[in-house]
Amino acid sequence: MKQPDTILVMDFGGQYTQLIARRVRELAVYSEIVAYTASLSDIQAFNPKGIILSGGPRSVYEGGSPTISEEFFTYCIENSIPVLGICYGLQLIGQVFGGKITSYPKKEYGKIEVNVLNQGGLNQEGLLEGLDATELVWMSHGDQITEPPENFEVIASSETCPIAAIQNKDDQIYAVQFHIEVSHTPKGMQILRNFVFNICKCRLNWKMADFIKDVISKIRETVKNENVIMAVSGGVDSTVAAILIEKAIGDRCYCIFVDNGLMRKNEVAEVKHNFEEILRFKHFFVVDASNLFLSRLEGVTDPEEKRRIIASTFFEVFEEKAEELKGQYGEIKFLGQGTIAPDRIESGVTSSTSAKIKSHHNVTLPEKLKLAVLEPLALLYKDEVRIVGKELGIPEEFIQRHPFPGPSLAIRIVGEVTEEKLQIVRESDAILIEEIKKAGVYNKVWQAFTSYLPIKSVGVMGDARTYQNMVLIRMIESQDAMTANFAKVDWDLLELIASRIMNEVPGVNRVVYDVSNKPPATIELE
Ligand code: XMP
Repeated sequence: MKQPDTILVMDFGGQYTQLIARRVRELAVYSEIVAYTASLSDIQAFNPKGIILSGGPRSVYEGGSPTISEEFFTYCIENSIPVLGICYGLQLIGQVFGGKITSYPKKEYGKIEVNVLNQGGLNQEGLLEGLDATELVWMSHGDQITEPPENFEVIASSETCPIAAIQNKDDQIYAVQFHIEVSHTPKGMQILRNFVFNICKCRLNWKMADFIKDVISKIRETVKNENVIMAVSGGVDSTVAAILIEKAIGDRCYCIFVDNGLMRKNEVAEVKHNFEEILRFKHFFVVDASNLFLSRLEGVTDPEEKRRIIASTFFEVFEEKAEELKGQYGEIKFLGQGTIAPDRIESGVTSSTSAKIKSHHNVTLPEKLKLAVLEPLALLYKDEVRIVGKELGIPEEFIQRHPFPGPSLAIRIVGEVTEEKLQIVRESDAILIEEIKKAGVYNKVWQAFTSYLPIKSVGVMGDARTYQNMVLIRMIESQDAMTANFAKVDWDLLELIASRIMNEVPGVNRVVYDVSNKPPATIELE
């Protein structure tokens, strides 16, 4: 493939590193992430038009914190590669060039107003071009620069953070304390656009179709003549990943769907139909391991313990099936997965320094896994995966399916998983989905599902007292699952769904609607 103009993102362990790369791709410019430990020759191989240094949770003055060499900057200056530091990236630039970085006792977190300095002067054709004299930005930091490095000028300032952005125009080094990549900074994309197009002079010579071609050729290079066993869940991510792998290596791709006994109503049959009749995969196997999963989950109430059991059982079943297939088709060296960027971020695997929120099933690999992992979508966000899916010609209805978590209904049942609770979630969920599809709401929300709450309450049915189960409805809006708001759906629709659930699902006498946003809640209950 002809190399597109590329912005390289160096990862210092920030929660938003993947988001920075994704924002650049939104501008139709290619972007990749490398670890902060990448050597100059690694960097050179990308021939980047610009480099962004990400945020990170550490302090630049702490022993052992991620750092970057002076040679890196010399290389960038000599090769006219502009650099933009964000948050921790700014502090690193400050440190390397002799500024002073100080810890503040109170962490600053949230939207603040900054003054953009020298409008029409220094900032013409600069990083902050097109901004008003004051702008709202999203801050999340404990440290800040208190003395700018020599030859750098301050280009934005706030009351709490007097050095909020700096630049050295001659050397093309820029830095901001705030996060331009999050939607809470309204002019963030404008700033990124200024960097990518005005400063780095990137051309629009990349599109998703190129990603597809590139990823297919990378799969071919990695897999060579080996076989791949592909973990499919029936969802968009693993299906798109499977199609890419099958396109790359043809009938050496073996798709396996594990029925963990925790799937939604009719889901196993639907997945089978999709893979066999619609997408027509060459090799597709269903492994029914429901009894094994359910027996291992007996008596388990801790969410992380549930996730661990499901993940390890999943891989065990997989390896067993791989062994069986080996007997039939020869050695299998690779395990394909539909992991996407947010799975990796929240499981804390983007780097050794980012924090773990939940162990997402498809990234918590068992130590003894005997297969090498292939994750063609690991860089992408859900909506980007949907674009890839569309390019690949997958039917629209399938592409618009809501995300469904690897640990399935187990994390939608608070407490121990039992057949009775699974039945309650399956039936109530089916009613919810049917009604929101009818009402035209399904494609407008990111996810909608029901959950079981371990609370019994009193009700009245006919003339008799009941003491029964509670179902929670969750419907959320989101762009990438990193943050989410509860959907403010129509009351009449909610009432219809709730009364259908109470009338039609045995054992349920109360339905509640979840009005929590993420953060501080998460999307799933466990
Ligand atoms: P949370 O609950 O962490 O979920 O806010 C964020 C998004 O990820 C999905 N999710 C998972 N997906 N394996 C997955 O493949 C998992 O273990 C997992 N846990 C949560 C969740 O449905 C939401 O879209």
